Amino acid sequence: MRSIVFASGKGGVGKSTVTLNLGLTLAAAGKRVVVVDADLEMANIGILLGIDATPISLHNVLSGENEMQDAVYAGPNNMRYVPASLSPEKMERLDLDKLPSAIKKLDDSSDFVLIDCPPGLGPSAVAAIKSAKEIVIVSTPEPSALADALKVRALAERHGVKIVGVVLNMVLGDRSEIKKEDFETVMEVPIIGLLPEDVEVRRSAALQVPVIIRAPGTAFSRAMRLLASRLSGEKLAIQETKVKKGLFSSIMEFFGRIFGRK
Ligand SMILES: Nc1ncnc2c1ncn2[C@@H]1O[C@H](COP(=O)(O)OP(=O)(O)OP(=O)(O)O)[C@@H](O)[C@H]1O
Ligand SMILES: [Mg+2]
Repeated sequence: MRSIVFASGKGGVGKSTVTLNLGLTLAAAGKRVVVVDADLEMANIGILLGIDATPISLHNVLSGENEMQDAVYAGPNNMRYVPASLSPEKMERLDLDKLPSAIKKLDDSSDFVLIDCPPGLGPSAVAAIKSAKEIVIVSTPEPSALADALKVRALAERHGVKIVGVVLNMVLGDRSEIKKEDFETVMEVPIIGLLPEDVEVRRSAALQVPVIIRAPGTAFSRAMRLLASRLSGEKLAIQETKVKKGLFSSIMEFFGRIFGRK
């Protein structure tokens, strides 16, 4: 089993998008994948999937109420995932030291455990990074993201987490952007994926259907399949997803169920 955390330091560079769509891609190639939403304060994986019927979350595991196995749910493509709680009331006493052993519980049943890290380098981000054996640093090709990526690299090195590489996201190919080679030189870490800025990514987030499912032919999805092959070290045979009717609910229903006042 490979446990890989996706971290960036800087917020909003695409960690959750990359983690989820990569998980779905590896799962579509027959890999046993669990995506763990370790962004305990701003859970996103359930929202990106449009699935909220997940009463037990990573919060319940870290507060000692439930076992990790109770918090694993089935998503599209036979991918499984562990949501974080969407409820604003659920931020009470969480024992972050429980995270590594909780992740280890997924060992036997998976080929890949992909962990979506929160931004910053606060306690929950550090816990997420320490709980993985490997790290992929997600960044955009701009100076502030690179500066934060360097801090993440230093933290990963300090904790002995193997740095697999950098994924550059939201790449426009514009001359103002830091070039791939320059980014690699500064980071001293290989770039393992270049994901373009693609309007289908934001549309898919808005519609709560992952882009790799909603728009498999778009530039981002094609680059994601290359990243999945690179990361797994194999040429993957990726099956197309058949979307079941009713799997993705409407946005108003979704927010009404979760945040509606009773
Ligand atoms: N390649 C892309 N092209 C266009 N939009 C993108 C791309 N990648 C991500 N986005 C959009 O950028 C926004 C931030 O993405 P995402 O939530 O995945 O980032 P994050 O790093 O997980 O953020 P946070 O630090 O808040 O957890 C979302 O609206 C997402 O749809
Ligand atoms: Mg996120």
